[in-house]
Amino acid sequence: MIKLNGFKKINVAVFISGRGSNLKNLIKTANNPNSKFAISLIVSNNSKALGLKLAKKFKIKKKILNFNNKSIEKSLLFALTENNIKIICLAGFMKILSKNFISKFNGKILNIHPSLLPKYKGLNTHSRVIRNKERFSGCTVHFVNSKLDSGKIVLQKKVKILKRDTPRSLSSRILIQEHILYPKALNKIIDSL
Ligand code: GRF
Repeated sequence: MIKLNGFKKINVAVFISGRGSNLKNLIKTANNPNSKFAISLIVSNNSKALGLKLAKKFKIKKKILNFNNKSIEKSLLFALTENNIKIICLAGFMKILSKNFISKFNGKILNIHPSLLPKYKGLNTHSRVIRNKERFSGCTVHFVNSKLDSGKIVLQKKVKILKRDTPRSLSSRILIQEHILYPKALNKIIDSL
């Protein structure tokens, strides 16, 4: 546990597969002296993930793992224990974690999803909500359980869909809200620990 300004920070690992804008935002929040958490480990299944550049920039440990190899979760659990990780934040992480792994971190894995769950689980949410002429979409931070995008909801933010919206424009407006919602939800969970 990192000790800054006289109080202990909760160690958080962020799992990514791509761009890493939520990761970047969580790092920025963590770097605030009053933050309750530190991003202590970045995990990725994809060695080419853009977000991995943040590890070097912010001097954060990173681990790139081949999640197609079933036995990899053992070394992942080891890395998490070694770094005293208390909470895992999935942020654009495109792999499914095993039931066994989830049970080991039960109630400590969060995910952010770009829809108002339980509606629009899975991929391509923005094009599906536009196609279905929904009036609102948004984003949800939820606990991870063994069913895709189905764990208990921590926080949600609604975003109005505009007539002129394309999947891209809607996605960028929702992303702005994701960046506000994820740190809020993480702090809420930390307060309840
Ligand atoms: C976000 O829209 C998130 O909700 C979804 O994947 C995207 C990841 O974006 N799960 P980024 O890698 O954090 O920029």
